[in-house]
Amino acid sequence: MKTACVILAAGLGKRMNSSVPKVLHRICGITMIRSVIDTAQKLNPEKIVVVAGKHIELMKDSIGSKDVTFALQEEPKGTGHAVSCARDALSRFKGDIVILNGDTPLVGPVTIKKFLRLHRKDGNVLSVLSFAADKPDNYGRVIRNGSGCLVSVVEDKDAGPAQKAIREVNSGVYAIKSDILYLLDAIKINRSKNEYYLTDIVAEAFARGLRTAAYCIGTEEEFMGINTKEELHTASCLMKKRVIHTWIDKGVNFLDADSVSIDADVAIGKDTTIYPNVHLEGRTRIGDGATIYPNVRIRNSIVGSGVAVKDSTVIEDSRVGDRASVGPFAHIRPGSEIGVDARVGNFVELKKAVIGKGSKASHLSYLGDAKIGKGVNIGAGTITCNYDGVKKHLTIIADGVFVGSDSQLVAPVRVGKGAYIGAGSTITKDVPPWALAIGRAEQKTIRDWARKRKLRVRGQKSKG
Ligand code: UD1
Ligand code: CA
Repeated sequence: MKTACVILAAGLGKRMNSSVPKVLHRICGITMIRSVIDTAQKLNPEKIVVVAGKHIELMKDSIGSKDVTFALQEEPKGTGHAVSCARDALSRFKGDIVILNGDTPLVGPVTIKKFLRLHRKDGNVLSVLSFAADKPDNYGRVIRNGSGCLVSVVEDKDAGPAQKAIREVNSGVYAIKSDILYLLDAIKINRSKNEYYLTDIVAEAFARGLRTAAYCIGTEEEFMGINTKEELHTASCLMKKRVIHTWIDKGVNFLDADSVSIDADVAIGKDTTIYPNVHLEGRTRIGDGATIYPNVRIRNSIVGSGVAVKDSTVIEDSRVGDRASVGPFAHIRPGSEIGVDARVGNFVELKKAVIGKGSKASHLSYLGDAKIGKGVNIGAGTITCNYDGVKKHLTIIADGVFVGSDSQLVAPVRVGKGAYIGAGSTITKDVPPWALAIGRAEQKTIRDWARKRKLRVRGQKSKG
């Protein structure tokens, strides 16, 4: 039996009070819609259709159209109407259509797979995944008859007191046989909200004697729908805990897990230790046995095994080789590569800088648009002057170079292998291999100058 997925994501999400479309809000670094698509993909569907509304272009930019087909719902006329908008995209599909709400980002594939198995085993044409809610107020209630069969789903707004007391609610996940999509045409507009409710398809199917069921196999946590910023916050906290516990299970040590945030797409190797207040974002990868000290933020970067990232360091879109040490207080800006065993120390800023194996820039430097070879020593206060006000230029420093403290390298410039730069130099011309370059005013020493001045000043005072 084949599967297709439809993800409803065209609602305006007015309750979010935001100019960002609801399903593009992020939890643990990924958009809600991305999280639902990831779950959908794990069902191996033939097709995933995302129903999007007036923000369709933004959604396409965010999601990319590689894995999904988009269907446009021009006006948000309700969840029933939204599924109708996906019908063209599914015209040739025969099988089970799993419908997911774009605003339930915590759904995982395990429960959905179990649900689909039950739906198929019982030979239903329509199944609803339900859960028992402590706070059922925002959900549709699952109405069963005396024999426990699913009869309808009633929205909170339309529910009478007895129905409001029901705690079994609709998760927004359905399995529908493609043959019965025609039932969507029978859904009438709901007058209290002027919308076509997908949930009304349940009563339609029941009235026609079709085989339907609700499976109460979800948890409130997993199927929590996000309609407000408050709910987004709650879901983010739940997801954050989930992510951290996954890494604890895989052998990562946390000193204060509650203060750490790790995006859903991050990967961390075993025996790595994460100190408090660390933020690992985007597609960051950390190797085995690394130590990430407090107040560090690493974004979209690859950090090798055995690396120490010391306190208050920021690393963005860069790579750090095995056993390297970075920080404290280092700023590694996009496009940088720190080699194996290299050391980048306190108050060092890198931008598009490659630092070779075992090289050191231990203190107070700016290295931008620089290619630095192996075994290089960059003295304290070294600056690559990479910008002439119009263009950026490259500084190349070959293997084994020693750059004395407080030197400026005015790019474009090249320092050959094994060369020495005297401390305090301003280097404007290429330096050949094995040379010594000194670019500073020669020191002038005037003997007894200070003593004479003292005597002069004293003499003037006695006269006055
Ligand atoms: C919906 C269900 C409710 C269920 C709850 C689970 C209906 C009528 N109600 O309520 O029974 O308990 O989800 O979370 O379906 N959408 C569109 N187009 C529209 C309207 C909505 O694509 O015209 C999308 C939204 O973007 C959202 C999803 O459908 O992702 C659900 O819409 P929402 O308005 O949040 O429905 P709920 O009131 O939460
Ligand atoms: Ca919702």
